[in-house]
Amino acid sequence: TDEADLVARPPVVTVMGHVDHGKTKLLDALRSANVVAGEAGGITQHIGAYQVHTEVDGDDRRITFIDTPGHEAFTAMRARGSQSSDIAVLVVAADDGVMPQTVEALNHAKAAGVPIVVAVNKIDKPEADPTKVRGQLTEYGLVPEEYGGDTMFVDVSAKSELNLDKLLEAIVLTADASLDLRADAGREAQGLVIEAHLDRGRGPVATVLVQRGTLHVGDSIVAGPAHGRVRAMLDEYGNELSEAGPSRPAMVLGLSAVPGAGQNFIVVEDDRMARQIAEKREARERAAMQAKRRV
Ligand code: GTP
Ligand code: NA
Ligand code: MG
Repeated sequence: TDEADLVARPPVVTVMGHVDHGKTKLLDALRSANVVAGEAGGITQHIGAYQVHTEVDGDDRRITFIDTPGHEAFTAMRARGSQSSDIAVLVVAADDGVMPQTVEALNHAKAAGVPIVVAVNKIDKPEADPTKVRGQLTEYGLVPEEYGGDTMFVDVSAKSELNLDKLLEAIVLTADASLDLRADAGREAQGLVIEAHLDRGRGPVATVLVQRGTLHVGDSIVAGPAHGRVRAMLDEYGNELSEAGPSRPAMVLGLSAVPGAGQNFIVVEDDRMARQIAEKREARERAAMQAKRRV
């Protein structure tokens, strides 16, 4: 890739933390605070990835967020989440403090070399103790800036929508301080499936994150064992998109099957090739499963 082809892209931020510490509610709050006139009435459909705008020093900045589950069964998804993100937001409920999946999430982020911003959530609660959370995380090497460390901590309440702008600013500052976020928007798209399901009316629907290149309506894609031509793309507000560039999450319609979360997608020349690649992948997966069964 030529340097000249590289364009700035928004940071991809994975929201991680212990179960019920408020990751999804925080994302809902960030998104509803972000809904501007023209965007479909702030309907919060639960989608695992979306983009918000914020203004920092007069500049319009975008951030892509990906939700992850906190339940202990989802270790693999958290590991994958940190590998595919630029920044991790570690959500810690101020009434509960540091818990096992808090530690697991911060270890995944550290292993992936991803900078961490800590959102100390639920500070609206009378029993909230954000100072205690800072002390606990210091023991794991996340030292708050106000204690002389280099990790930004922001006290928030997803419920009361408190300090959401401060959290967005901390993310942008962390990105600017430690990351070179550029991608080639001109090439064929590739990226990750964030989540997918079968919709009664629309067939397989996959939320994908474009990591490189630009995805267009009409492109032939392979996503895990699924293939197809992109029939339509929707953003997080249900608006139709004609294309999706680097760091953009989009819901893709037109796949032959439901791909798995975490699987890659690529754009290929035409749908015949897409089908061939998908069939090969499926055969390979089937063989691997049979081999496993024989053991
Ligand atoms: P998992 O995805 O299951 O790991 O949970 P989560 O981290 O996404 O938590 P979720 O957003 O589902 O919130 C869990 C519970 O905490 C819900 O009942 C929320 O309403 C509540 N909650 C989240 N944020 C806040 C907050 O800032 N203040 C208060 N008081 N409650 C909150
Ligand atoms: Na929950
Ligand atoms: Mg959740």
